[in-house]
Amino acid sequence: MKFNVITFGCQMNVHDSDWLIRAMESRGWEAVDESEAEVFIVNTCSVREKPEQKVYSVLGRLGRLCSRPGSFVAVGGCVAQQIGQGFFERFPFVRLVFGSDGIAKAPQALEELAEDHERKLIFNDFLSDYPEREQVDPSPYEDLVPPGIGTIPGQAFVNIMQGCDNFCTYCIVPYTRGRQKSRHPDHVIEECRGLVKSGVREITLLGQNVNSFGLDSGGTGVSFADLLYRISEIEGLERIRFTTSHPKDIAPEVIRAFGELPNLCPHLHLPMQAGADSVLKRMGRKYDSKRYLEIVSGLREACPEIALSTDIIVGFPGESDDDFEQTMDMVEKVRFESSFSFKYSDRPGVAAVKFQPKVSDDVAQKRLTRLQERQKHITRESLERLTGLETVVLLERPSRKQDGDIVHWRGKDSGGRVVNVPLPGDYEKNSPGGKLLRVLITEAKNHSLFGEKVGEPW
Ligand code: 5AD
Ligand code: SF4
Repeated sequence: MKFNVITFGCQMNVHDSDWLIRAMESRGWEAVDESEAEVFIVNTCSVREKPEQKVYSVLGRLGRLCSRPGSFVAVGGCVAQQIGQGFFERFPFVRLVFGSDGIAKAPQALEELAEDHERKLIFNDFLSDYPEREQVDPSPYEDLVPPGIGTIPGQAFVNIMQGCDNFCTYCIVPYTRGRQKSRHPDHVIEECRGLVKSGVREITLLGQNVNSFGLDSGGTGVSFADLLYRISEIEGLERIRFTTSHPKDIAPEVIRAFGELPNLCPHLHLPMQAGADSVLKRMGRKYDSKRYLEIVSGLREACPEIALSTDIIVGFPGESDDDFEQTMDMVEKVRFESSFSFKYSDRPGVAAVKFQPKVSDDVAQKRLTRLQERQKHITRESLERLTGLETVVLLERPSRKQDGDIVHWRGKDSGGRVVNVPLPGDYEKNSPGGKLLRVLITEAKNHSLFGEKVGEPW
């Protein structure tokens, strides 16, 4: 069968889609463009209102493409978990719905539905343990996957846990991804070893709250710090990253790891969400601004070059002008290298739906614009400071930009910054993506760096 996957949302969704693509390919299915596909898989996100709305408009479009007999749509991910059976009622061409824990069963189900055109299946139950999935081969180097599919040569994502127990008052994730379930550490390490053996050089460990790895019924006494130290010993693994971290759970051993583990990348995404203590309290975050700043200085002491990024919500119910000024103040104090910021949006069933007063969209938009403008400058200044320095870039893929014989490659330095490097046109043939390169940074733009190759480190 020819199939197409459309993905919304976070890195966990991107990784899930990537796994599903490979699982179907190993069953003889072929990943194709939307215009050629017979089966469509939509992996959905409901963390904010906008991505959820997009799912419905995509389904409208796919309905028109589903006229061929045997053609159908599968909906997975967070909106699938939330709406469940409702998809069958609203969209007759949807024949498979799978929630967060149901993805392991999706490949088999897709095969069955391709055979039996009358059937519909739904997997929406939460499981009490981490649902292990069949292992699929990582993307081989020569298979430069088109952008959007999520696989980058030399890089891989590894799930270490599923779900979240924190119930931050604005967040739908605990309802759509269920209770926290850690994966067995031996399974994680085995998967990492296999990936490195097949040529992967950078692994990102994924989970909704990786710092509380092992602190649930799936735990074996191995903490997240223990796991990091064990993974860092894998020979040939050049870079380790992890996301996402909750500040309340970051252990001193994890902070120390940034100073001790040579292959742990100097980059941490540490969602702050707000700067005012009263707002943090009502968000249920269980840390205050003082504690957040202590963590930041601990990290910078352990690893002075660490690049910090964050998530910020503006316009949380009850956020006053003064509260927002405190968020701006924290942005000045920490000087995040980058931040993702959002206007608060009510999600069905979360505690904050009932919190009053709501901040008007007009006020929230003004705050968001101000924050983003300020962040743009700080990002630019942080990047400008790197010009004239040498760095190591893991090449990802050539960009569309070409100057005669020169091809512009895109890659990332260990801090996670995008670096563009011009290379001779025939470079790809000898040195595909996934290669590490020494680069001199020559220029900083708003969101990325430009540099020149000075050598190949290994
Ligand atoms: N409204 C706005 N932003 C939200 N996020 C999560 N829930 C909401 C919501 N209801 C943001 C948080 C989180 C990121 C993934 O999305 O900042 O860290
Ligand atoms: Fe949502 Fe909070 Fe869990 Fe993050 S830690 S997924 S924000 S409930």
